[in-house]
Amino acid sequence: MNMRPQPRDDLRALEGYHSPQLDVTVRLNTNESPYAAPQAFLDRLGAEVASGDYHRYPDRSATVLRSAIGKALGQPSERVFAANGSNEVLQTLLLTYGGPGRSALIFEPTYALHSHIARITSTAVFVGARNHDFSIDVDDACSRVLRDRPSIVFVCSPNNPTGTVEPHATVTSIADACATVGALVVVDEAYGEFAPRSALELVSDERALVVVRTYSKVWSLAGARLGFCIGPQWVVHELEKVVLPYHLSTPTQIAGTLALEYRQEMLERVAALVEERGRMFVALDALDGVSVVPSGANFLLIRVHHDARAVWQAMVNQGVLIRDFSTWPGVEGCLRITIGTSQENDDCLVALRAALTKVGNT
Ligand SMILES: Cc1ncc(COP(=O)(O)O)c(C=O)c1O
Repeated sequence: MNMRPQPRDDLRALEGYHSPQLDVTVRLNTNESPYAAPQAFLDRLGAEVASGDYHRYPDRSATVLRSAIGKALGQPSERVFAANGSNEVLQTLLLTYGGPGRSALIFEPTYALHSHIARITSTAVFVGARNHDFSIDVDDACSRVLRDRPSIVFVCSPNNPTGTVEPHATVTSIADACATVGALVVVDEAYGEFAPRSALELVSDERALVVVRTYSKVWSLAGARLGFCIGPQWVVHELEKVVLPYHLSTPTQIAGTLALEYRQEMLERVAALVEERGRMFVALDALDGVSVVPSGANFLLIRVHHDARAVWQAMVNQGVLIRDFSTWPGVEGCLRITIGTSQENDDCLVALRAALTKVGNT
């Protein structure tokens, strides 16, 4: 009799990461940019990608890309580690500093991949507390660091799915506690450019703290799969040893370098989305049966006082896809709306009003 190979016992209970990719007109469920990257960038990208040396491996250390990212953020390239999406950055951090016998501290509700990748890398997960407004309970966080002695502490700011931006004092207090137990602080700033503050200024070779960013959101390049972190040189050095050789393809490196030349356009897109976020906040807040969580990201979390799942489905039926968090611990009854173009946001409001009326009447 043939026996099927079985996955590791500790992976058996894992669910994959799922966000439905439905064929609808208005897609506001995965926090992508609603705007395409500038045409001039795409034209140059096509030409530069076409002239790559594809019979050769890509530059293993992504020298040009890393120095361009470093220059854009006022950091030496030795402090930059780049990978295929910030998810691969997170995975490399966990492969390097997590693993069997080690643990990560996270603060739920937060980005699902922090605990998911931790488990895949056999890193135990401790969950710290958040305050009523979803900010991290800093006293609890610091005492947990001292008690549980994790190897990694994930601070997601702005936090996905709540949009909460942590004060500097929280990040520095956690970093100080981490320093006493030799833990690494990972500040996930996938939405950092939409927020009023960033932990980038806290990065130094003396502090065990890295800031993770992505091209997927503000750079309108989710399809390119590129992310990076800025951290102490000695952390970057360790990450380079763990990541697979030649992991960043030639087109990815070209795209990432070239995109940075269109920073002004990026800032304009961010400004437009931040303005739309403000408009959507006011409009959503005015709806009966809905409360909105303040956000420093390109999405808003709403709590629906009706059956949230039914509201979500009624919106899908009208061609508007948002993200259903209604059964997630800590955000029960909540739905997350990515900020789209003005038209998409208007369509979303129309669909949400109709859905609330329909579900409220049934
Ligand atoms: C908080 C956070 N971190 C990281 C990511 C991963 O982004 P990517 O792998 O596309 O860079 C996301 C994507 O939604 C996110 O919300």
